[in-house]
Amino acid sequence: MVNYQNMRSESDVSKAEPNSIIDFRSDTVTRPSNKMRAVMADAEVGDDVYGDDPNVKILEETVADLVGKEAALYVASGTQSNLIALLTHCGRGEEYIGGDVYHISHYEAGGAAVLGGISPKHLTTDNNGGLKVEQVKAAINPDDFHFAKTRLVCLENTVNGMVQDQQEICKISDLAHNHGLSVHLDGARLMNAVVATDKPAKELAEPADSVSICLSKGLGAPVGSILCGPQGFIDRARYNRKLVGGGMRQAGIIAAGGHYAISNNVERLAEDHQRAKKLAEGLAQINGINVDLNEVQTNMVFASVEPADQQALITHFINNAILVDGGDPSFRFVTHMDIDDYAIQRLLETIAAYFENK
Ligand SMILES: Cc1ncc(COP(=O)(O)O)c(C=O)c1O
Repeated sequence: MVNYQNMRSESDVSKAEPNSIIDFRSDTVTRPSNKMRAVMADAEVGDDVYGDDPNVKILEETVADLVGKEAALYVASGTQSNLIALLTHCGRGEEYIGGDVYHISHYEAGGAAVLGGISPKHLTTDNNGGLKVEQVKAAINPDDFHFAKTRLVCLENTVNGMVQDQQEICKISDLAHNHGLSVHLDGARLMNAVVATDKPAKELAEPADSVSICLSKGLGAPVGSILCGPQGFIDRARYNRKLVGGGMRQAGIIAAGGHYAISNNVERLAEDHQRAKKLAEGLAQINGINVDLNEVQTNMVFASVEPADQQALITHFINNAILVDGGDPSFRFVTHMDIDDYAIQRLLETIAAYFENK
């Protein structure tokens, strides 16, 4: 097996050239670096459905250990990870509680309802994307046959780039456990929260029974997420991964990229956070665009403009080879390893030019 523990990550950062397309849409757009590709090309493989793939096993053990859980399961995506978690925690006719802005509530095609007969109950999150323990308490259904049985509380960290209040997460988890409910944490970007708070992943994941970590966002792997939890939960989750067609064969090639990402690309998330802050501070200087600096806590910047400027600014971005997400009502700019200082400067100059010339 290739020893890639000591390889460094500088070459993971690609430089934006004048006139090249700059992509602020998401941290999912990163492409594997040459080093990551080399590791993947050399990866030893086996059939993972038979449990034979050494790189998948190493990746699962590494991430389980990192987040302090007994076992882990490598899956194709964050959506599949959350779906498998829901199918594993809840039975048909049962209900989970989640936040209305969470990915699991909005952007996962209703998979839990379609495939698992599981009802969502979405609670309104606060300005920081969080839920409060009193809200969750009030939302747990009584033990009465008129109601769906509440079975699970789903939390998320980070939420739209915002780091969640760990004390509140602990309170909600204690409440859930006292009511016999489980807690799943969608930690697609938990490593951003780790870097922003300087708290170990184990501590942030501790209150939750299961946690999902994405390797293909800021960490820069091309594919994959990891679902972590107790051994019995992961054994059942493996069954559910098969059920949703998610068993992968020689997955070691992509798992090696995931292992490289989690081993080399966590600390560098701090650079993405610094660039997001610099971008937000620059936007705050431009008349015509609004940004709330308090919301910029990791690698995402949300900014809004007057409705009359929305479409024109979208067109202006396209004409200047800048890709962004949204615009109605807010634009989302995400920093990641393919966004360097030059890209930030070019985005700020492009926006400033729009408002100066309109
Ligand atoms: C918080 C969160 N959870 C889950 C996902 C789903 O990940 P994937 O796109 O790999 O399915 C995303 C995707 O952006 C996300 O932002």
